[in-house]
Amino acid sequence: MRQSTCCHRAAQPSCTCLTGGRVLISLPPSIIYFLSEDFNINSITVSQAQKLTAPAPFALLSTMTPEGQANFMAISWWTYLSNHPPMLGVCLSKKGLSGSLIASNGEFALSIVSEELKDAAFRCGTCSGRSVNKAAQFGIPTVPLTQVAVPGVAGSRVIFECRLQNQLEAGDHIFYTAEIVAVQGDPDVRQLFAWDGYARLAPVSG
Ligand SMILES: Cc1cc2nc3c(=O)[nH]c(=O)nc-3n(C[C@H](O)[C@H](O)[C@H](O)COP(=O)(O)O)c2cc1C
Repeated sequence: MRQSTCCHRAAQPSCTCLTGGRVLISLPPSIIYFLSEDFNINSITVSQAQKLTAPAPFALLSTMTPEGQANFMAISWWTYLSNHPPMLGVCLSKKGLSGSLIASNGEFALSIVSEELKDAAFRCGTCSGRSVNKAAQFGIPTVPLTQVAVPGVAGSRVIFECRLQNQLEAGDHIFYTAEIVAVQGDPDVRQLFAWDGYARLAPVSG
């Protein structure tokens, strides 16, 4: 039903419109908005949806290679899962190194890094730890953690120390669920968000 030519467009809470001597309808403004032709939703791709639903909270996920070298991967597909016990989940492409290191070591850390690391953190999402020592090459400052052997990123807003619980195949990704075995935070640090899908990192204001 569309109400495009009458006083319903003026969004009066108790508007009663008379057209040709007949009472048409009385609707609250929120419903009128959804019925209006200004509401223009169309079929889009999932990649376009990912851009429309940005920003997503951004993190660097750290793991350890068998040689004892820390690896840092950019990640925006992570989520809280449970409060009791505290759990989170991370969704990683099957192509990268980090997923196989989580599976073999059973632990990882997730650092909600500061805005000062914007460029270095983004570069951790553009190459693989198979060929690059990202901490050394991009200047990622590391800090030892309390419950896991992998380091976190120094100066972060939050660092989660995580122990793997389960893995779920999800198309070209694997979803790893983990218990949060320790967590540290600093409210004075401003965090980064991923915008336009994976395209850029920036803080949010407000
Ligand atoms: C802003 C940003 C967010 C990203 N988020 C994810 C993600 O959630 N999951 C994923 O699998 N890859 C994500 N990536 C891509 C990985 O970081 C990238 O494939 C990286 O090279 C993997 O590194 P690795 O091989 O050392 O594990 C993201 C990249 C950027 C720049």
